[in-house]
Amino acid sequence: MKPFKLAALTPPAWVAMVEEDANALLSDHAHCELKAASTAQALLLKHRTNARLVDELSAMAAEEMAHFRQAVEALQARGGELGPVETNPYAERLLGESGPTRGAPLLDRLLIAGLIELRSLERFHLLAEGLGDPELAALYRGLIPSESGHQALFDRLARSLFDGALVERRQAELLAIEARVAREAPPGPRVHAGWATLEAAE
Ligand SMILES: [Fe+2]
Ligand SMILES: [Fe+2]
Repeated sequence: MKPFKLAALTPPAWVAMVEEDANALLSDHAHCELKAASTAQALLLKHRTNARLVDELSAMAAEEMAHFRQAVEALQARGGELGPVETNPYAERLLGESGPTRGAPLLDRLLIAGLIELRSLERFHLLAEGLGDPELAALYRGLIPSESGHQALFDRLARSLFDGALVERRQAELLAIEARVAREAPPGPRVHAGWATLEAAE
C-alpha cells in the first residue's frame, strides 16, 4: 500500500464489501469517471482565459472519458449495463461540509477535486491488491498511473495559483473533513462507500 497523504486510510476489509456486487461497483465507477470528466470541463470553462488550466484540464477530461469507456466495457463484458445516475453522498457531503469554512472558491474546487482523486486512487490500489477477480484487479491496477497524475495535477494547479501557506492550511482543514466524510459514507458496492459499518460489525 502506498503512503497516501489522506488523514484516514480505508481498511483492506472494505474490498470484500464492494466486491459483493461487481457490476454495481463498475457502474458506479463508470459514473465517477463521467463526473470527473465533467468536473474538469466545468473548471476549464470557468477559467477559459487561463491557457494552462485549459490545456491540462482538457487532457484530463479526455483521460476520464477513456476510463469511463473502460469501465463500461468491463461492465458489458460481464453482462451488466450502466445504471442510472445516483447521488454520490461522499462527494456531496464533502462539498457541503467544506462550505462553512470555505476558502477561495477556486482553491476549494481544486483541493476538493484533488482529494476526491486521492481517495479514488487509494481505493483503486485496494481493489488492485484485494479483488478476487484477476481481470477486475488488472483494470484497477491499470488506472492507477493516470489517476495519480490527476491528483498531482490538482495539487500543482492549486500551488501555482495560490500562496503556498494558504494551500497548506486549507488542505489540512479539508483533509480532516474528507477523512470523516469518507469513513461515514454509506456502505455498499460503490467506489466511495464508507467503512464505519465495518468497524461496527467487528
Ligand atoms: Fe479516471
Ligand atoms: Fe481522475
